[in-house]
Order: sequence, then C-alpha cells, then structure tokens
Amino acid sequence: MDSLKVTPWEVSGELNEGAYKKLVEKFGVDIINDILLNRIKKAAHGKLHPFLYRGIFFAHRDLGAILDDYEKGKPFYLYTGRGPSGKMHLGHLLPFTFTKWLQDTFDVHLVIQITDDEKYLVKKSDKKEIEKMAEENVLDILSLGFDREKTHIIKDFDSAKSLYYYATDVAKHTTLSTVKAVFGITDSDNIGKAFFPSMQIVPSFIIPAITGKKIRCLIPYAIDQDPYFRVSRDVLPKLGYYKPSSIISKFLPALQGNTAKMSSSSPESAIFLDDDEKTVKRKLMKYAFSGGRDTLEEQRKYGANPDIDFSFNVYSFLESDQEKIEKVYGEYKSGSMLSGEMKAIAADKINGFLSDLRKNREAVKDYVQDYAFDPERLRL
Ligand code: TYM
Repeated sequence: MDSLKVTPWEVSGELNEGAYKKLVEKFGVDIINDILLNRIKKAAHGKLHPFLYRGIFFAHRDLGAILDDYEKGKPFYLYTGRGPSGKMHLGHLLPFTFTKWLQDTFDVHLVIQITDDEKYLVKKSDKKEIEKMAEENVLDILSLGFDREKTHIIKDFDSAKSLYYYATDVAKHTTLSTVKAVFGITDSDNIGKAFFPSMQIVPSFIIPAITGKKIRCLIPYAIDQDPYFRVSRDVLPKLGYYKPSSIISKFLPALQGNTAKMSSSSPESAIFLDDDEKTVKRKLMKYAFSGGRDTLEEQRKYGANPDIDFSFNVYSFLESDQEKIEKVYGEYKSGSMLSGEMKAIAADKINGFLSDLRKNREAVKDYVQDYAFDPERLRL
C-alpha cells in the first residue's frame, strides 16, 4: 500500500529514495544533474555547497533561467520562509543555511516570509502564541547572519497591507478547483485555507511588482512546499511576471531514521535549537538511527554504513572541512570507529553549532528591526 503523503500541511510515509523518485514524478520537478551542478559551481567562483554535491538539494524548477540571467550580469532575488507554529528544529534550518550560502555567493536580495496567518488558519488557534513564536523564529533565522542591507522579513500579519494588494491578483486568477486539487482542500475546510496560497505566492513577485523591474526569483525549500510554487508558476505569467524558479531539498530525517522527517509534532524525532548540551547528547545516544553493527565485534570486523547513519549525516551537514568529513567517514566505515564514538562526535558538532547560534541570537535582538520589510529598502 502506498502511504506516502507530502503536502505543505502534512508529511507522512517512509521518505526513502523511492519516495523522492515518486515525488519528483508526481510534482513534475527536474533533478539537478551534473551539467547544472557545473554551471552553479562556475557561477559560484568554483565552490559548490555540500548540500548540492551531497544531493540534499536535489531537484529544481527552471534553475537554468536564473543561471542564464546571472551569466549575463542580470540580478535575481531569493525568497524563502517559515510558518511559526512552534520552536524550530535543525531540519527547519536546513533551507535557511543553504539560502545564506546563496545570498553570500551571489550577493542578492532575500525576502523571508513568516506565515503567521497560515499557522492560524491551518494549525493553531492562539494568535498571541503564534505571534510570540514568529518573533522567536525570526531571531533563530537571523542568527545565521543574513545580509542586513539586503534581507527583508515579511510577517504576514504586519505586512498585510503590501501583501494583500497583490494577493488579490493571485486569487483572481486561481480557481477553487485548482486549490482543491493541489492542496487537498475539501468543502468542510475553512475558506481562509483556500485563500492563503495567494499570500505565500506574493513574495515570488513582490520585488518586480514594487520596483517595476523585470527580475527573476529563486525559491529554496524542502519538497513539501512545492505545491505553492506550482500554482505560482501557472499564475505569474498571467500577471506579466516571470515564473519563479525553485531549488528543492529532501528532508532532514527524524532521529530514528528516514521512516519520517524531523518534525516538531513528534519532539523525540527532533533536535530543537534550544536543546541544551545534555539533551542533544541524550537524544543522540538514545534515539539516533545508527548505521553501525549490532555487536562490537561485528562493528570492528565489518564496519558501519555511514550513509544511513543519522549522526554521521548531521555531522557532515555542519562540518565545513571536507577532509575531516572524509576521515570520519573512512574510520567509521572501516570499523575503527564505533557507533557511540560517532554519536559523541556528532553531539559535539551540533552543540558547537547551537552555541554559536545562541550567541548571535543575543546580538541580533539589538538590530532585528533593521530587517523589517519596507518597500523603500527594495532599491536594486
Ligand atoms: P515550515 O515552517 O513548515 O518549514 C520551513 C522550511 O523548512 C523546510 N522543512 C524542512 N527541511 C528539511 N528537513 C525537514 N525535516 C524540514 N521540515 C520543514 C520547509 O520545506 C520550509 O522550507 N508555509 C511555509 C513557510 C513559507 C515558505 C515560503 C517556505 C512561506 N513562504 C517560501 C519556503 C519557501 C512553512 O510553513 O514552512
């Protein structure tokens, strides 16, 4: 039985390679092949982000159009976002760390949308709690160090005036049968859910809409968000804008392995950004799916499979030194390193990363307002 379900509002079923293959076909996205990887590398001055060569960002829509423009010296802009339903975990940060690399590499503007309205309509009913989470999540995201001049945070409730004007253009060109088919909305859903996609589509053309300049948008996200941008690609040409381009990632799996994604709704599956050192270590030791062997003897003799090992994978996402990663990979695979040692290395790496984030987070509090969306700041 096929229990795979991936929508922006629900992800269930085993997320193995076969599942991603099915999603690529179902959603109609393209795989990032070697030709594209080489073009990105060339544009990025010879450097490729590990998420690209490790196949974490594995699919796209129209990425070639962004590269064509960039090669001709034309700018583009980035757009990504977060729905503030609760505390953030490492998985949520994955598209943001990659987006930061894109911004640093290509020196471009970035719009980050915080969909407090979506979380109210779809998930939670306490608006005060959502607003609080939105503030906290913004600090978490900004502690990655986005460019202060070129990054624009749109909180939907705060920026409703700018957004709503354009959202009505999207809504006018989108039928109810489209949102029913794409988002699985039924007659018993509230009407806000049917309108909301218009709000998430707006930032994919907000810079050209406000500045009047024809400029393309590139949107990084994990594959659950794709339905929004499929609709966006249908609607935008009708409004006189370019179709947006996407760069799409797989999910960071749950601690327990790829039977599920890391998810806030199952706290034991996730490492949260505010987990303290002890908690991170405990979660890894207790839950982290291991590619090691059942007994010490077998591990020494046959070695581990690092590719399916949660701790190795997270370690390799956070370590920037490729040589170190290869050394750990080799030792673990050969059996000279044990599963417990691998977990300890990963716990240290995660704790170092989280401690840096926390320091930056304190500093960001002083200038978080500088990032607020203001059409005046969109001078390109
Ligand atoms: P949200 O808050 O559910 O997720 C934020 C971003 O994290 C991705 N994501 C993951 N990535 C890797 N591993 C995981 N386990 C994992 N779980 C979630 C999501 O795909 C997303 O990129 N509606 C959106 C907010 C939004 C948005 C956007 C996202 C508004 N505009 C544009 C991406 C692009 C949401 O609720 O995301």
